[in-house]
Amino acid sequence: MYKIAVAGTGYVGLVAGVCFAEVGHQVTCVDIDEDKVNLMKSGVSPIYEADLQELMQKNYAAGRIDYTTDYQSAYKDADAIFIGVGTPEQPDGSANLSYIATVARQIAESVEKDCLVVVKSTVPVGTNDKVEQFIQDFLVHDVKVEVASNPEFLAQGSAVHDTLYAERVIIGTESEWAEDILMGLYEPFHLPVVAVNRRSAEMIKYASNDFLALKISYMNDIANLCELVGADIQDVAKGMSYDERIGSKFLNAGIGYGGSCFPKDTKALENLAKQNGYELKTVKAAIDVNNGQKTKLYKKASKRLITFNGLKVAVLGLTFKPGTDDLREAASLENVPLLLEQGADIYAYDPVGAENFAKVHPAGENGKGHITYVSNVEEALEGANVCFIFTEWGEVKAVLPEAYKTLMRTPLVYDGRNIYSVDEMKAAGVEYHSIGRAP
Ligand code: UGA
Repeated sequence: MYKIAVAGTGYVGLVAGVCFAEVGHQVTCVDIDEDKVNLMKSGVSPIYEADLQELMQKNYAAGRIDYTTDYQSAYKDADAIFIGVGTPEQPDGSANLSYIATVARQIAESVEKDCLVVVKSTVPVGTNDKVEQFIQDFLVHDVKVEVASNPEFLAQGSAVHDTLYAERVIIGTESEWAEDILMGLYEPFHLPVVAVNRRSAEMIKYASNDFLALKISYMNDIANLCELVGADIQDVAKGMSYDERIGSKFLNAGIGYGGSCFPKDTKALENLAKQNGYELKTVKAAIDVNNGQKTKLYKKASKRLITFNGLKVAVLGLTFKPGTDDLREAASLENVPLLLEQGADIYAYDPVGAENFAKVHPAGENGKGHITYVSNVEEALEGANVCFIFTEWGEVKAVLPEAYKTLMRTPLVYDGRNIYSVDEMKAAGVEYHSIGRAP
């Protein structure tokens, strides 16, 4: 078993740390935020993620995981140091690598024995080479430090499961020594491992995410055409899915992809191409389609209603997808301000995301409009003139078509997630607009 340090306790770092502890390694998670460290020590997860808190408590009690702000003591005798800090988008779309650089410098100043530094954060191709050079330049002790790439493929909402039962582990190394350590670290997981060089590993991460983003944008593009020519996107997707070369996943048309990964990683790869004098036309198209998709239903509803001024608007779902409290790049963040600007009286429901949303749009008067956060779907729908569905939470999917008819003042529903059957909504007397399907 190995002694591991993990830099950064966001989705990537914390989940990796907990899962390495779960398979028996000795893990220390490092974060600069003292309050967060104390919270984690007390057994509370700073993020909402299935099974995470239970595994944190179990492995902390077993002495396999600890949390600290003292990076020096965590790094000095680690066999491997994983970097899982953020690489946020910069105004030009490129990835901001300043957090990685800070950690690299701290590692260089702290390590006192040979150690493998593993970059888990999503970084542009070539970054690992630079990180290695950077560490060498600042290294204080006479020890061997190499850098390896080990991109993360977990999805929010199923992060622990995706890590423990990953479909593949990608390791990018430049030496047998580094490859052996990574193989050893992942050995107890019993997962398929693809060993490549560092630059290929870095590219696999972007190519995979951007391919999935492309798949979604392609389906959204086809959905928009379906509406114009009288086809049904769900039937189309079903018909396509039987072809194993296409597959059945990620064919759901909707109000565009959000989250911290696809929007950022598509722009970062497009940017990398540009820097290398190449235009990545397919990815650019995926970004364009996604930008138009997010406010598609708002635009449709605007035509139907002329104005939202003074209307009671039910908003169901605020997060970028179910199973998370994350709002990054969520469609709600684009649509709610447009509705408020029009003077809408919004009643918003989200089982876990409302608190975060209220930090951006506090309850009460909001510009020309007003927003109230409610604790159940019924309260949101009661007396509403129009309803928008932005996230397919189980609690939203459980609402029967008849409920819209009986609870709303006007049963007018704009569903960005195609939750309902068009026929059932029609039979229940609901005016139902969705994506890629005739009303
Ligand atoms: C995504 C990838 O799925 C992970 O493999 C990857 O590791 C992760 O990014 C990352 O790079 O960290 P995540 O952003 O958590 O994971 O969420 P997804 O489940 O992929 O959903 C992203 C967005 O696409 C959501 O807004 C979702 O609603 C949308 N989506 C997904 C669709 O609109 N249609 C679909 O068919 C699938």
